[in-house]
Parts: sequence; structure tokens; C-alpha cells
Amino acid sequence: MIGRLNHVAIVVPDLAAAAAVYRDTLGAAVSQPVDLPDHGVTTVFVALPNTKIELLHPFGPKSPIAKFLAEHPGGGMHHVCYEVDDILAARDRLKAAGARVLGDGEPRIGAHGKPVLFLHPKDFCGTLVEIEQV
Ligand code: CO
Repeated sequence: MIGRLNHVAIVVPDLAAAAAVYRDTLGAAVSQPVDLPDHGVTTVFVALPNTKIELLHPFGPKSPIAKFLAEHPGGGMHHVCYEVDDILAARDRLKAAGARVLGDGEPRIGAHGKPVLFLHPKDFCGTLVEIEQV
């Protein structure tokens, strides 16, 4: 059901420092920081040949990643995002299999303008999973 790895999201305490690590140490192409107020994050996109890394930092007082950063002050991997062809079919299949879909279970528009859902980490090997319809 899942397709390509769309991105891996990493929460960081200092976006400029993290962007420098990926640009200068790892030699990757990194974007300028992009504020996504609707999502409560500022993102630096790292383009790799086969996928993307998203460096995330809280934006605004109600950021959904503020708690994560408080618990992991040095930063850490936040979620992986897998592509699906049909997000409603994927959701229904996952729910039928007993997986917990976060929120109200309805897809919302994610950081790339496409419908996304998040799945409970306890059902996926301790990893928060995002699925995105591409
Ligand atoms: Co994501």
C-alpha cells in the first residue's frame, strides 16, 4: 500500500545550525527557511536524490512540535512520511487493521499542499508515521 518515502522530518533546536550541517558537512542542497504558520513550524527542505529531509523548528506559541523539542532539547527524528495513492482507502485499511489515526481521522492539507494523516507511533514500531496522497 505505501509507496515512496516522501520525507523524513527532524526537529532541531537551531535551524540555521542544522541547515549548515546538511549543507556544509553533508554537502546537500538546502532551502531557505520557510515559515508554515498553519502548521506551526518553520522548515528547511533538504533535497536528496531519492527523497527529502525536512528540518523543523517550532513556529508560534502553539506549535505541535514544541513539546517534542522540550522533551528532546537536542532535536531528533520526528516522523517519516510515506506516499499513498488514495489516502481515504489507506486510512480505512489502516483502521480496519487496528491502527490508530491521529486527530479526527480526516485528512488535512499538509506542508506540501497535499492531503495527509498521521498514525500513532505505538502502532508503527515507535515511529510517528505520516501518509501523504501524491
Ligand atoms: Co511531514
